[in-house]
Amino acid sequence: MQRINIALDGPAGAGKSTVAKRMADKLGYIYIDTGAMYRALTWKALQVQVDVHDEQQLVALLNNCEIRLEPGENGQKVYVDDEDVTNPIREREVTNQVSFVASHEAVRLEMLRLQRELAKERGVVMDGRDIGTHVLPTAEIKIFLSASIQERAERRFLELQQKGEQITLAELEEEIKKRDEIDSQRKTAPLRKAEDAVEIDSTGLSIEQVVQQIVTLVQQKL
Ligand code: C5P
Repeated sequence: MQRINIALDGPAGAGKSTVAKRMADKLGYIYIDTGAMYRALTWKALQVQVDVHDEQQLVALLNNCEIRLEPGENGQKVYVDDEDVTNPIREREVTNQVSFVASHEAVRLEMLRLQRELAKERGVVMDGRDIGTHVLPTAEIKIFLSASIQERAERRFLELQQKGEQITLAELEEEIKKRDEIDSQRKTAPLRKAEDAVEIDSTGLSIEQVVQQIVTLVQQKL
């Protein structure tokens, strides 16, 4: 059976990664979380005290380390060189700085090269902000997954509560809005729905309902 590529974009907390993982499992495809790559670089920058606004130093850092995504028992594992950073890259400090790192054109160019390399064998489900518009513009299926800001904040809030993190719903909503604003307003490859993407508003839908809608689209292509 032919292998296709699936691009899944959308704002923060819309459920992209959960949906993308399920789709990849169903199809036997590889899941690539591009946000994890930007997070890994941000984590490294914070570790070695590189300024998140210093484009040249960030590119040098990216060229001097290896960011790897590997399938793990509970989802994808992320490594920077040999260090497992799967959990630290989800911490709030990284989350609140990552959009600055991702706003630099030279950083994005290098990430684009790495991401296309990962998708060259096809059969990938890749999630991010610019996959349908820039990274995989010829992907057979493009989805733009959205949800109301209230629902996105509530979903994240529940996740963080389970991890024992102290944050209010209002603070979280502000942080998500801020990140979406930086991601949509940057000059290079901003967060946008590709013209040929199908928009799914997941407000009030379960993960399974969203997955089913995408499965139907995939069946029409294969
Ligand atoms: O998907 P996630 O929320 O983990 O992404 C973290 C950040 O990485 C985003 O807020 C955005 O700044 C950046 N990103 C990006 N382009 C992508 C994926 C993520 O700019 N393709």
